[in-house]
Amino acid sequence: MTENKNGIMSDEIITYRVLGLDDSKSQRRSMQCAFLPPRFDTTVVSSGEEVVEKLTTSPDRYDIVLLDVNREKMDAFEVCSIIRNKLHLQYLPVLLVTSDSSWSFIKKSMDVGADELVIKPYNSLHMMHRVNIAVEQKRLFDGLRVEELALFATARMVEAKDNFSNGHCDRLAHGCKVFATELGLSFEDIKTLTYASFLHDIGKLAVPDAILNKPVKLSKQEMDIVKKHPEAGSLLSCVLKGREDVAEIIRHHHERYDGSGYPDGLRGVSIPFLARVFQIVDLYDSLSSDRAYKRAINRRKLLKLLSEESQKGFWDRDLMSVFLNILTERPDDLKVKSYDYDLMSLEKITRIIEYQLATSKKARHGSYMDERR
Ligand SMILES: [Fe+2]
Ligand SMILES: [Fe+2]
Repeated sequence: MTENKNGIMSDEIITYRVLGLDDSKSQRRSMQCAFLPPRFDTTVVSSGEEVVEKLTTSPDRYDIVLLDVNREKMDAFEVCSIIRNKLHLQYLPVLLVTSDSSWSFIKKSMDVGADELVIKPYNSLHMMHRVNIAVEQKRLFDGLRVEELALFATARMVEAKDNFSNGHCDRLAHGCKVFATELGLSFEDIKTLTYASFLHDIGKLAVPDAILNKPVKLSKQEMDIVKKHPEAGSLLSCVLKGREDVAEIIRHHHERYDGSGYPDGLRGVSIPFLARVFQIVDLYDSLSSDRAYKRAINRRKLLKLLSEESQKGFWDRDLMSVFLNILTERPDDLKVKSYDYDLMSLEKITRIIEYQLATSKKARHGSYMDERR
């Protein structure tokens, strides 16, 4: 256990297990040097056959595979295709590394199910960032059932319905991670906050588009319809087995510390702790982005507004002061990089759902051929 600057004990470093492929000895050495213990446990091999053999004998041994695109013998595309179609490791992030950025390469890498194409020469810090994000995403969404994945896919579609919230959930997931890390919260808490980030407004499924995208102030009746979304969302999120903590955040993300929020008018610490953490990041992102009914405000005004609202008693003051500290000292940490959350794309969720449905059908019917007959 380590102590962060807020004096809160945080979890030990979690090791990320990397399997790399490169046919060049010097590149293998530099990969080994880039991904060092204790953060990384790195195995680097020189042939596609070795990658396939390692993943066949120990499919759960690695968190990410980095494949240098190598034209000799079994190339990276073929290895990637085997990982997806023969070994059925749909959750395992696969990054292809190449110096060819042509469209045909990008398309080919997408066709074989690679998560990303990293173009050489790359900055090793950038590469490490990509690996961190891919592994974090894998650990967050690993093992979810089809119904649970479908819930995330639905939430993505609801988000797309709202013209102005584009990217809100990704930014929220990122902001929650930064804030939770500063607070010294556990990986499980970060996982809860991330799930809530993607799902919190899923109840807007029941809100007509004309209200969601209305450019002027809503009427009382329209606002009453909008106010039903936290309750509807928390009911829908019951699909997530054993994650009542997520449903709790969804239900209470519009409560206010002074009791003036909805749907239950909870006050102070009766609002669940993670919901209080979450709503500060949600508020920050909604104020700092354009919406149908308002323009984004700049950081100076934002700092003023957040601290005024906190003084008025709308939000948890202790939590807000930690957040304002991040916003003052390290505002860039809160900015999400455009590529950070593309691994949680609708396409990826759909691919995993398709695979899981196919394998469950196969288990029930013996084989596809049996099923056709
Ligand atoms: Fe909401
Ligand atoms: Fe939100």
